[in-house]
Amino acid sequence: MDLEVEAYLRPPEMDMPPYPPKVITLATGGKMVVRQATREDVPTILQAVKPTIEIERDFYDIVGVRVYAELLGWYRHRMRDMFCLIGQIDGYLVGQVNTRAYSEKLDISLHTLAIERGLRIGAHLFAAKMEYSFEYLGREEVLITAESPIGFRRWMIEYELELREGQHELGGAAPYALTRELYYKHKDRLVAGERPVPDKLMEVAEREIKVVSEQDIVEKILGAKRRIKR
Ligand SMILES: CC(C)(COP(=O)(O)OP(=O)(O)OC[C@H]1O[C@@H](n2cnc3c(N)ncnc32)[C@H](O)[C@@H]1OP(=O)(O)O)[C@@H](O)C(=O)NCCC(=O)NCCS
Repeated sequence: MDLEVEAYLRPPEMDMPPYPPKVITLATGGKMVVRQATREDVPTILQAVKPTIEIERDFYDIVGVRVYAELLGWYRHRMRDMFCLIGQIDGYLVGQVNTRAYSEKLDISLHTLAIERGLRIGAHLFAAKMEYSFEYLGREEVLITAESPIGFRRWMIEYELELREGQHELGGAAPYALTRELYYKHKDRLVAGERPVPDKLMEVAEREIKVVSEQDIVEKILGAKRRIKR
């Protein structure tokens, strides 16, 4: 690699304090550990994202392909100031969320992708990334958009987001703002989890990010939908 040119190609990086891991007890009683992913985790996370790229239902395809590009961009140092949080149950990856800092005051929410469904895993992970932006990174506002009706219900409606002028960096869609005030208004209802994570749970989560087979990912995403149609 031409290191001299590479230095010009890489965007600068902002220092960010770490996100302290937490554990969320799901409606089934299962425990989901939410923690920050590192760049080195990206190839493993991509294994879980790749199968979603061909699933049209619920807009998994467009979200999957964008998440793939964002994570790869971060891994290859072509994405500025991104963080990624993951959810794991028994070590297995069940979802990811990512956000990019625009400035010390403003974050741009990128994507939420849930692989295990019907447990509000996506909703919990989205809440965790908002928690990180406001409570640990000290942002004043996060700009959000939705690429699916489920996303619109989960974010715009549940958090009463404010429609803003201009374009969101995800395809120029309408940007909506979660302000500090709105975050704290909804926090008790939407932001779950306990700290510290018990040692045993944390050890299992950190030992390995496990990914179920490609076939299982497709079945989990489509199968959940089949169940609700009955
Ligand atoms: C949007 C998303 C993150 C929400 O994740 P989540 O909070 O875990 O929610 P789920 O996907 O499990 O469920 C969403 C809806 O589908 C239905 N559903 C899906 N699976 C279900 C199941 N197994 N049992 C019952 N209902 C189910 C429910 O109607 C549920 O809505 P409700 O809880 O508001 O009634 C997730 O649907 C996802 O990854 N979608 C694809 C990518 C995407 O759209 N991301 C957001 C971009 S803005």
